[in-house]
Amino acid sequence: MPPATLADLHDSLRDCRQCRLADGRTQVVFGDGNPDASVMFVGEAPGFHEDRQGVPFVGAAGNLLTELLTSAGLARQDVYIANVVKCRPPENRNPAPEEVEACKPFLLEQIRLIKPRLVCSLGNFATQTLLGSKVGVSKVHGQQFQLADFLLFPLFHPAAGLHQNALLPILREDFQKLKQLLEQMAATPPPAPAINPVQMDLF
Ligand code: URA
Repeated sequence: MPPATLADLHDSLRDCRQCRLADGRTQVVFGDGNPDASVMFVGEAPGFHEDRQGVPFVGAAGNLLTELLTSAGLARQDVYIANVVKCRPPENRNPAPEEVEACKPFLLEQIRLIKPRLVCSLGNFATQTLLGSKVGVSKVHGQQFQLADFLLFPLFHPAAGLHQNALLPILREDFQKLKQLLEQMAATPPPAPAINPVQMDLF
């Protein structure tokens, strides 16, 4: 049976050994923030500080993310932040395809339980995983993609903004686009939830 709550899902993953990243981690970095958030951010994988503290985006990239959130009128505690891969890859290498595949169902389950209206993918791994495409984030950042259950808004990864000077102004600009998108969304009520087939039988 799928977990009923985010806390149940978290508990079920504390001893996860679905892939080899379990061998090197200090702990599973499940996610952080408001479990009822309407906006969710998805990064790549925990780094050194995240692995130690058990919280996503607490290192340098996390500090920049917090600043960018503020620029878009968002507070960290109001959104939900998670990663595609929940355990730190050794030496912060890229997650391997089989590690992404092993962890993807848990990300999708988090999204199912949180039910955000908007998901912002940070960088290539999150964008490709959620879009189901090999497209690079440089081609799609700052654009909107209506998926079955949420609107996807890809953004460059904050770490890319820290390491490539030219990307930082683009990242800041995209967070201003995000601010406008949030204002538009606030003015539009979310679509009514679909009536499920059991209820429909009653009519
Ligand atoms: N980079 C990520 O993608 N996730 C984190 O949690 C930290 C850095």
